[in-house]
Amino acid sequence: MRMVDLIQKKKQGGKLTRDEINFIISGYTSGEVPDYQMSALLMAIYFKGMDKEEIANLTLAYVDSGDKLDLTAIKGIKVDKHSTGGVGDKVSLVIIPLVAAAGIPVAKMSGRGLGHTGGTIDKLEAIAGFNTNLPGDKFISNVNAYKMAIAGQSANLTPADKKIYALRDVTATVDSIPLIASSVMSKKIASGADAIVLDVKVGSGAFMKSIDEAKELALTMVEIGKSLNRKTIAVITDMSQPLGNEVGNASEVKEAIEALAGKGAKDLTAVALTIAAHMTVLGGAFPDFEHAYNELERYIMSGKAIEKFKQFVEIQGGNPGFIDNPASLPKAKKHIEVKALKSGYVAAINAEAIGVAAMLLGAGRKKKDDRIDYSAGLTMVKKIGEYVRAGDTICILHSNLDEHEEAEAMVMNAYSFSDSQPSPIHFVY
Ligand code: URA
Repeated sequence: MRMVDLIQKKKQGGKLTRDEINFIISGYTSGEVPDYQMSALLMAIYFKGMDKEEIANLTLAYVDSGDKLDLTAIKGIKVDKHSTGGVGDKVSLVIIPLVAAAGIPVAKMSGRGLGHTGGTIDKLEAIAGFNTNLPGDKFISNVNAYKMAIAGQSANLTPADKKIYALRDVTATVDSIPLIASSVMSKKIASGADAIVLDVKVGSGAFMKSIDEAKELALTMVEIGKSLNRKTIAVITDMSQPLGNEVGNASEVKEAIEALAGKGAKDLTAVALTIAAHMTVLGGAFPDFEHAYNELERYIMSGKAIEKFKQFVEIQGGNPGFIDNPASLPKAKKHIEVKALKSGYVAAINAEAIGVAAMLLGAGRKKKDDRIDYSAGLTMVKKIGEYVRAGDTICILHSNLDEHEEAEAMVMNAYSFSDSQPSPIHFVY
């Protein structure tokens, strides 16, 4: 087999066989297939797509490229969730204690931030002492005893996806439905989930900019899950602006605590309850979605959810003191207010630009090895639909840097205004 012939085949819209896909993925992972040929193939897939069988074969080739977690020592149905990536997305921090409080085991593998999108592991590492690198036996025993544990993705879980994702990031081939679907689903399959809830983000801060695209991605992933005997549900949620009011690491932990204590932003609370409710139904804790949603809401109101979060922090080695005293979380030295230049309703927010601004302030990485400033980030003071007067503060930047003009300009340009009130945003579509 020759890589050039396979690129030619896909360029002409042909269907790649299982053997051909295995040849490509194992060759690229081992270094025999060079970046330039893989880049050409990715662009051909971007334009010509893949059918269901090709996507399922690509998913399995990713899974087979590395280790698979064996979670059979964990009792019960292991339900995992995955978000396709967004700005201010701290949903995992809220759902872990909620789902665990319902008695459903959450054995969570999470990633670090990438580009304009944040990562759950980075956020949790803003908590003093929090260990995201639990040894395998401790991870399993925590899930059995407390129904929850989290770890950063092991270096050898789906290494082919890791290498190809990095190449996609620099070849403008991330926003391709077959490539996202196989990338997401391979990680969930390799990390041992029995059932999966997918949070498919749509809007200016997501890879899928329209509902039609989000639906197609959602259906593609659910099909892969079904074909591999994993119960899979996809929920399409809004990412036309950052989720909640905080974008950063320590500040997102604080906002997750507020949601667990019943004082959270409406959009964050609605999305987290929806995802958690589906997870608990798949795990068998409740008979239906409505029942689950109401019960989980009660966990929040009764204090059960925040108590479970305290336990989560403790069993991962962190100091839970910040939960009663959020002011003890890392704080930036400077707070720069961005003010509206004119009056009107906030009509749109470019969430991706907000994510990039947060990264420029130090909340994310420009390069893989950059260090994160846990205290850096942004507070979205005004969101879509709110009326502002010229001179009102619309966003506050939190920074320890001397220079923040570029981030300030990005935030300013990310907001657009209109004279009439825009239609309300649906948090869950
Ligand atoms: N998240 C992933 O894990 N993979 C993608 O390709 C896009 C979002």
